[in-house]
Amino acid sequence: MPAKPLSSSNRLPAAAVHANAPVGIFDSGLGGLSVLRAVRAQLPDEAILYAADSLYAPYGERDDDFIADRTLAIGEWLVQQGAKALVVACNTATAQSIALVRERLPIPLVGVEPGIKPAALQSKTRVAGVLATQVTLRSARFQGLLERYAADCRFLCQPGHGLVQAVERCDTGSAEVRALLHGYLQPMLDAGADTLVLGCTHYPFLDETIRDIVGDRLMLIDTSLAIARQLERVLDQHGMRVPAESGASVAPRFFSTGDGSHQQKLAASLLHIDATVEQVTIPSRRTSTPDSRAA
Ligand code: DGL
Repeated sequence: MPAKPLSSSNRLPAAAVHANAPVGIFDSGLGGLSVLRAVRAQLPDEAILYAADSLYAPYGERDDDFIADRTLAIGEWLVQQGAKALVVACNTATAQSIALVRERLPIPLVGVEPGIKPAALQSKTRVAGVLATQVTLRSARFQGLLERYAADCRFLCQPGHGLVQAVERCDTGSAEVRALLHGYLQPMLDAGADTLVLGCTHYPFLDETIRDIVGDRLMLIDTSLAIARQLERVLDQHGMRVPAESGASVAPRFFSTGDGSHQQKLAASLLHIDATVEQVTIPSRRTSTPDSRAA
């Protein structure tokens, strides 16, 4: 089904903004927790609402309209929960739908994209690998990044089939994951790459296993800290930073369209956050069909 035509009447009305309101962070699943980790480090006083669409992950296996439909529905839901700004902590959702969501939501947005620019700046061999979802790699937005920054650097683009599913089940280092990663990374090493762009927010959770395989032959480019800094700039521009005197940081609130058990486990083991995950239903046009759960 084609996306609904846009009109200004589709836009949610602007709400009065309070600096004390939380920042919304959204991902198809658990990958955005790597961005949440950086946001908490950079902006420890900001309250955070984290929404994972785990019932419908991975997005990288979905069609473009489905991804736009879910991204918009979750963005609108976070606005209704009182979010003052939204981080779309998913390369795939950003690549497919950031323009649509920006047009429809009344709050500032920060998206994420693979670190092609820093990789092109830092690679000495001028060969760099990119691991991202198939949807991200074939998107016009990603192709535009390559055109802009990759003139004198060769990028070897590899879809990370199976990796998002592994992180979603909290598997960051099994023999199966190791074999998948080995198959993706060895050809990059053979081609002389010295840099690897982690072009999906799930992949930073695989960094130890990647390190085991490649040692220090590849410099890993993870943009989560840059995203947190961009959020800081955006909040400053809009006068939305929580007042410093508002006290100690509050624990993030976690929501999931799935059962949340893996989110709880990953938050505890990798982020040392003891979280309760609230299960929520976020309806959207495409998920009202009976087969919408199947990837
Ligand atoms: N974390 C998402 C990203 O950065 C994963 C996409 C998916 O669900 O396939 O692209």
